[in-house]
Amino acid sequence: MTKKTIAVLPGDGIGPEVTRAATQVMENIARLHDHEFVFKEGLIGGSAIDEKGGPLPLETKEISAASDGILLGAVGGPKWDRLPGANRPEKGLLEIRKSLDLYANLRPVKAYSALIESSPLKEEIVADVDFLIVRELTGGLYFGEPKKREDADGETRAVDTLIYKTSEIKRIAERAFQAARLRKGKVVSVDKANVLESSRLWRETVDDIRVDYPDVELEHMLVDNAAMQLIAQPAAFDVIVTENTFGDILSDEASMLTGSLGLLPSASMGSTDVGLYEPVHGSAPDIAGENRANPLAAISSAAMMLKYGFEMEKEAKQIETAIETVLADGYRTADIALKTEETVTTAEMTEAVIKAL
Ligand code: NAI
Ligand code: MG
Repeated sequence: MTKKTIAVLPGDGIGPEVTRAATQVMENIARLHDHEFVFKEGLIGGSAIDEKGGPLPLETKEISAASDGILLGAVGGPKWDRLPGANRPEKGLLEIRKSLDLYANLRPVKAYSALIESSPLKEEIVADVDFLIVRELTGGLYFGEPKKREDADGETRAVDTLIYKTSEIKRIAERAFQAARLRKGKVVSVDKANVLESSRLWRETVDDIRVDYPDVELEHMLVDNAAMQLIAQPAAFDVIVTENTFGDILSDEASMLTGSLGLLPSASMGSTDVGLYEPVHGSAPDIAGENRANPLAAISSAAMMLKYGFEMEKEAKQIETAIETVLADGYRTADIALKTEETVTTAEMTEAVIKAL
């Protein structure tokens, strides 16, 4: 028996609905394998602003830091859109990533054979898609200083700064090479080395790290070309490693290959063992509270926690197989249903996954 403490941060919109689905699945896994999962709930995002005055209350930080893994729903929504930057829901997420030094965002993108028809691309292009995006999460444009507005020459000027240090590039490159060893052994490092100095350092540093992974194949690709290749031949990728902004954009692009945001999980890993696991999608305010959200991305995120955080490969695989089973059996939430297909609710989909376990 293994005991794990899990911080559960449901957040806003559909966040609470999909995290509930994920914890229910985890409870069943615990029961089947005689593990003990202790869930500790914390506020984050807009709901934390409403109740505590800020997007990341101290208790939430403490619960998270003391946990073995964090399961997050989503933050944000129109209700908080007019708040200033420092007190917005997203700030809670940025802060928790920063405070736990979660520098590596892993996003698997895999085509489910039962859903190939709902991909916007041709079947033969997406059929074998199975890759992992490793995005640097705590550096680059989103954090670089100076970051400010100022008056200059009679108009307003805004500044963001793109900075990377070799230590930041090294650790993310290592994650990517390690991940590739467990997959098909192929890394594509994405940059814009033809124009950006930070990208030239990125490329050199990745080459340096590569020396320790002679068994892994490495290709450098410019980000604009990578954006094209993701559509032209997505099945050719295995592991993609890239900096923060490029990774943000490419991973959203990649998420569409398989049809729906409602399917895609992510993990953010850092220098400690405490990872943060969350669906790729946001709080979906348009369908919040309607029992319509697809819980599979959150459930897959829980599977990633088991796999990457707790070394429970078998249990993770069991969840992944259950998801494949329910999709093959025709269970469809509205976001993945073709016009002619009947749909199930969040709760029904969750129940089906639990049965399939
Ligand atoms: P979104 O991902 O929330 O929604 C985009 C579209 O996909 C919507 O039509 C939504 O209904 C649908 N969708 C998303 N997840 C779904 C699911 N599980 N099942 C079925 N349909 C689903 O992105 P959007 O609309 O750009 O952002 C809404 C709010 O979420 C904003 O406040 C944004 O800042 C926040 N957000 C938060 C993120 C996070 O917490 N990590 C990530 C992205 C956005
Ligand atoms: Mg994004």
